[in-house]
Amino acid sequence: RTNNLKMEGSSNLRLENCRAKGGSPGFKVAILGAAGGIGQPLAMLMKMNPLVSVLHLYDVVNTPGVTADISHMDTGAVVRGFLGQQQLEDALTGMDLVIIPAGVPRKPGMTRDDLFNINAGIVRTLCEGISKCCPKAIVNLISNPVNSTVPIAAEVFKKAGTYDPRRLLGVTMLDVVRANTFVAEVLGLDPRDIDVPVVGGHAGVTILPLLSQVKPPCSFTQQETEYLTSRIQNGGTEVVEAKAGAGSATLSMAYAAVKFADACLRALRGDAGVIECAFVSSQVTELPFFASRVRLGRNGVEEIYPLGPLNEYERVGLEKAKKELAGSIEKGVSFVGK
Ligand code: NAI
Repeated sequence: RTNNLKMEGSSNLRLENCRAKGGSPGFKVAILGAAGGIGQPLAMLMKMNPLVSVLHLYDVVNTPGVTADISHMDTGAVVRGFLGQQQLEDALTGMDLVIIPAGVPRKPGMTRDDLFNINAGIVRTLCEGISKCCPKAIVNLISNPVNSTVPIAAEVFKKAGTYDPRRLLGVTMLDVVRANTFVAEVLGLDPRDIDVPVVGGHAGVTILPLLSQVKPPCSFTQQETEYLTSRIQNGGTEVVEAKAGAGSATLSMAYAAVKFADACLRALRGDAGVIECAFVSSQVTELPFFASRVRLGRNGVEEIYPLGPLNEYERVGLEKAKKELAGSIEKGVSFVGK
């Protein structure tokens, strides 16, 4: 009887050891905010990812239920739940990748910046935990306003002496996912065949789709360019209004977050040629952070690509984007300075 109990208690560990011996390239991933609108479908999709061997689900509410539910899926990853601040360190210890969708979402009429007061403090606390428990982890930051929360995270890591700009990535993948979808609709093509670079940041005019660089090469009328740019910039608001007070994009965001996390894990495994857009510490413009195409590798961001040739419409958009971004970045930096 004692043996049985022991075996039950250590079953997760045995599973992990067994997988480690098999040489499978399993990574340990934590989701912070795992019980939320994004967190739950994100947890489900990460449980389905064959590159994940251990999945830690952390939130300040409801993780026991979400964890029990997800853990019954007959996929490889071992799932563990962590509830409340006192379990944050256990949730983070040993992680290779930390994905952060914790914080409040928008309601109709709100900008992403309106979330700053609540989410800034949440991100600071979570990043202090990362500095302490898994300073080498790759961080995928989803919590809005991304244009400010990424600078907040950087400042927290700097204060703790653990900052490695290559490992901190603001997730702008949903803008790329939307851009691919909307461009495909206009062109009458399959969205899977479309690749739209989206640069700048993740809010309103800072979201700058480079429609002149779409792959496969194509051209748009001025009217199409204006329609597409506006729809991509306001895609989030479209969802916020349709949900009418019940939150912002969660399902498409979980999809985008997993697409991005999977790219990070493939890069960690050593795959070559993993290129995605992300909001990172950058010298592509005069701003300290900027979203553009980056090459991911074992250390996170290994190369940041220049913006490439822009047309007049994009050059005007870039100036607007930079003006707004500068303020959002400064707001994040000074929050931690306080
Ligand atoms: P939600 O309110 O449904 O879920 C947020 C979760 O965070 C909740 O379960 C809550 O308990 C948890 N949480 C709150 N404080 C926490 C703390 N201190 N530690 C850990 N967890 C904590 O919100 P939803 O819809 O999942 O959105 C989450 C965030 O993602 C929002 O800030 C939203 O604006 C942002 N977002 C970002 C996008 C992007 O493209 N980067 C797209 C869509 C949303």
